[in-house]
Amino acid sequence: MIQFILNNKIIKTTVNSGVTLLDFIREHQQLKGTKIGCREGDCGACTVLVGELIDGKVSYKSITSCISPLGNASGKHIVTIEGVNLPKELNVAQQLMTDNYATQCGFCTPGFVVSMTGFALADVKILNTCNDAVSGNICRCTGYKSIEKAGFEIEEKLLHKDDNNKIEWLIKQGFIPDYFKTIPDKLTKLKIQNSNLLTSEGITVANGTDLYVRYADKLSEEKVHLISDINSLKGISFSDDICTIGANTTVTELLENERLRTVFPKLKQFLKLISSEQIRNMGTLGGNFVNASPIGDMSIFFLALNSTLTIQNDKGEIRQIPFQKFHQNYKQFDLQEDELIQSISFKAIDSSEYFNFEKVSKRTHLDIASVNTSIRIKIANNIIVDTHISIGGVAATPKYLENTRLFLIGKPIDVSVIKEAAVILQSEITPISDVRGTNIYKRLLSKQLFFAHFVELFSDKIDLQNLITN
Ligand SMILES: Cc1cc2nc3c(=O)[nH]c(=O)nc-3n(C[C@H](O)[C@H](O)[C@H](O)COP(=O)(O)OP(=O)(O)OC[C@H]3O[C@@H](n4cnc5c(N)ncnc54)[C@H](O)[C@@H]3O)c2cc1C
Ligand code: FES
Ligand code: FES
Repeated sequence: MIQFILNNKIIKTTVNSGVTLLDFIREHQQLKGTKIGCREGDCGACTVLVGELIDGKVSYKSITSCISPLGNASGKHIVTIEGVNLPKELNVAQQLMTDNYATQCGFCTPGFVVSMTGFALADVKILNTCNDAVSGNICRCTGYKSIEKAGFEIEEKLLHKDDNNKIEWLIKQGFIPDYFKTIPDKLTKLKIQNSNLLTSEGITVANGTDLYVRYADKLSEEKVHLISDINSLKGISFSDDICTIGANTTVTELLENERLRTVFPKLKQFLKLISSEQIRNMGTLGGNFVNASPIGDMSIFFLALNSTLTIQNDKGEIRQIPFQKFHQNYKQFDLQEDELIQSISFKAIDSSEYFNFEKVSKRTHLDIASVNTSIRIKIANNIIVDTHISIGGVAATPKYLENTRLFLIGKPIDVSVIKEAAVILQSEITPISDVRGTNIYKRLLSKQLFFAHFVELFSDKIDLQNLITN
């Protein structure tokens, strides 16, 4: 049986764990405020909040319920649009959407209001703007300016937020209803009752953002092995200078980690290029690696870090492999059926090293890459002492550029060296023409993004004009 809190109601259900949360909400609970748009995580009409009890406080994140398995709600607080309604008046987000004429047909509005309420509830000041919070919500008729204006006004109100008594403050200001303050106690009781309720049989699902886009119907009917709440697959730790990140870590959790933000000062800029707020709150590293897409952003990011994967089988046996050896051919990888990726680890970037990530897609946000690439590079006296470079979208797997690396080691940071390296890079890739661009376009992008690493990291040493002219 799965137990969780839906708005202000305790749910105990024997419905299959693999049914989508969206279908459970709409069909089993008859809460029709959460809308069905694309069913692919793209439009945000189905956005709900998931509250998880962490150290006695509930941390809320927005997700797209159309690609989330019901079983992942276990032990959590799920908030739909009905759950943010106040008894008598509109809540702050609803009122500001109305005041700014930010709704026309209204189909997208519940999703926007839930995302905006998630922004108000957010723990860490990672989401700088309300616009960031609604990055996964699409409106086809109002136009975004009025929605943006409502967002600005929400931000203004939140400037006075009392972070020490956040929930009480948000209730008093009319952002959320009164029952929110009872949730921590209710979740504490549920958490105890929920342990070991889920099956370990069936298709392995982390947070479902890849699997549910393709197999939602199948997963709704079959047994699913939900791994998202396995504690040993979670967490980010540093031991000496080695950083280890659990396979269940989401993109948002990377960003929330203060130490990682120090290691990668541009982490937010990099990760904002990945999907949308809702999908970043769900998409895990393990899911991204095993999905094995040649353009998986996390694969490209961690390949260039020269990372190591830790893999465990169901007998508890552990093995480690270089991440560069994991992807073997198109959608083929070094993982047995009884194995799970536990974690990925890498040596933290030190002061003589630089890291960069570049991605070009048809639109800047909420799109997968045409080409993406990362570089890690260590310099001493202007000489490249070591480097690791990855590139996506130009081969059958996320590609580690071994020959380009070997050419660069021992050479100075110099326009002619970079140009020569770019020629070697071309010999290592085999792009094909598809919906994300022609083979010729991807070759051009590969060169330009490779140059972009050096322009971004060593603008003082590189003559841009010289680099981009033949
Ligand atoms: C709208 C949308 C936008 C997206 N945008 C991007 C984008 O910009 N960039 C990008 O890279 N991806 C993007 N994705 C893809 C997806 O979000 C990521 O690949 C995500 O990291 C997958 O994680 P998950 O936990 O949701 O995977 P799931 O769907 O749960 O799992 C994917 C696969 O991994 C396996 N798996 C998961 N964890 C483990 C583990 N620990 N050990 C072994 N096997 C495991 C599962 O069995 C499954 O085969 C997008 C998806 C959507 C729906
Ligand atoms: S219905 Fe479009 S994101 Fe869920
Ligand atoms: S108001 Fe119609 S889709 Fe947004």
